[in-house]
Amino acid sequence: MNPVEVVENVYWVGAVDWNLRDFHGYETRRGTTYNAYLIVDEKKALVDTVKHPFRGMLVDRIRKVTNLEDINYIIINHIEKDHSSSLPYIMQQAQKATIVTTERGKEGLTKYYGEHGWNFLTVKTGDELNLGNKTLKFVEAPMLHWPDSMFTYLQEDSVLMPNDAFGQHLASSQRFDDEIDWDVLMDEAAKYYANILMPMASLIVRKIEELRDLGLKPKIIAPSHGIIWRSSPEKIVSLYLEWSKGEAEKAAVIVYDTMWGSTEKMAYEIAEAIGRSGVKVKLFRLHVSDKAEIMKEILNAKAVIIGSPTINNSMFLTVSAFLTYVIGLRPREKVWATFGSYGWGGGAVRKINKLLEEARFEVIEPSVQAQYAPTEDDLQRCRELGGKIAEMIKSK
Ligand code: FEO
Repeated sequence: MNPVEVVENVYWVGAVDWNLRDFHGYETRRGTTYNAYLIVDEKKALVDTVKHPFRGMLVDRIRKVTNLEDINYIIINHIEKDHSSSLPYIMQQAQKATIVTTERGKEGLTKYYGEHGWNFLTVKTGDELNLGNKTLKFVEAPMLHWPDSMFTYLQEDSVLMPNDAFGQHLASSQRFDDEIDWDVLMDEAAKYYANILMPMASLIVRKIEELRDLGLKPKIIAPSHGIIWRSSPEKIVSLYLEWSKGEAEKAAVIVYDTMWGSTEKMAYEIAEAIGRSGVKVKLFRLHVSDKAEIMKEILNAKAVIIGSPTINNSMFLTVSAFLTYVIGLRPREKVWATFGSYGWGGGAVRKINKLLEEARFEVIEPSVQAQYAPTEDDLQRCRELGGKIAEMIKSK
């Protein structure tokens, strides 16, 4: 296990998790990485650790550069266990190390791992740590991704280590953006933003402005997951600004499930009408689709249309689960519409509308509902709904 030099005397010492397929509910079809960085100076600092099962890889890579016993600081940018769960193991060997983290980080690490008598140095935005020739500057970043989160900036080399921000769940033998298929990288960066960071959109805009106000101009952005941005870090920063402001393509996404084919027939009819109007549309049946992929498409769309059959006076379980997921992620600047089928009392569409309205999403009326199987009149109403959505998208 070899380290990879990021800049002189700064090494990637993380781990590649090729087989991860689920990250707390987010389908990670291309695996992920847990990135940790070792800075070698008069004092030595390790920035973040890795998920516990990968601790051996971390230690192997560190030992190619230095002894663990010689590490002076372990910077914990974020306590979530994919980054911190090797800390107790590392601290058994790096016994003279001081853990550098935020106040919330110290509190969370103690609650996760107990009292060990570890030395802590808690830091706030603007605090600096001199390692000899290199200086670390810290920027608190609460809720990007958890309340404890912070960014670490290596001043002399202009390397930003923002932990979860700007990451991707993407396993690769390459470490840098100029070494990898750019389409795959962009696909995974968008999917990661949509499934992890989208609820914090306004915080992201403010944090990027704060970095500029602090005079930080990263030449390299080295996140804690995926590929390191070194060829054009400004590209991912400007994409984060666009996504966070709700900028999207003139496109629609239809998300539905079906019991006996009626709701599916309506979904196809709505999709046809949108497509005929010259607006791009993608259709996902939840039973066979990844939520994470759908969220990426919603990020890039201006309209979302949700469909469900009625079962037990309510919506399908897959639709209910998806609504819980999508409402939690709070996509911005979308219009929403609903449709569905029922046998007798109905209930699915009414309940979907209620959830969307409670989330303060803009819902286009009227919804389209069909009893048992859609009639020609019902299908005409689907076409009209599709046409109306297409016109709204074009005007936005
Ligand atoms: Fe990659 Fe919030 O942990």
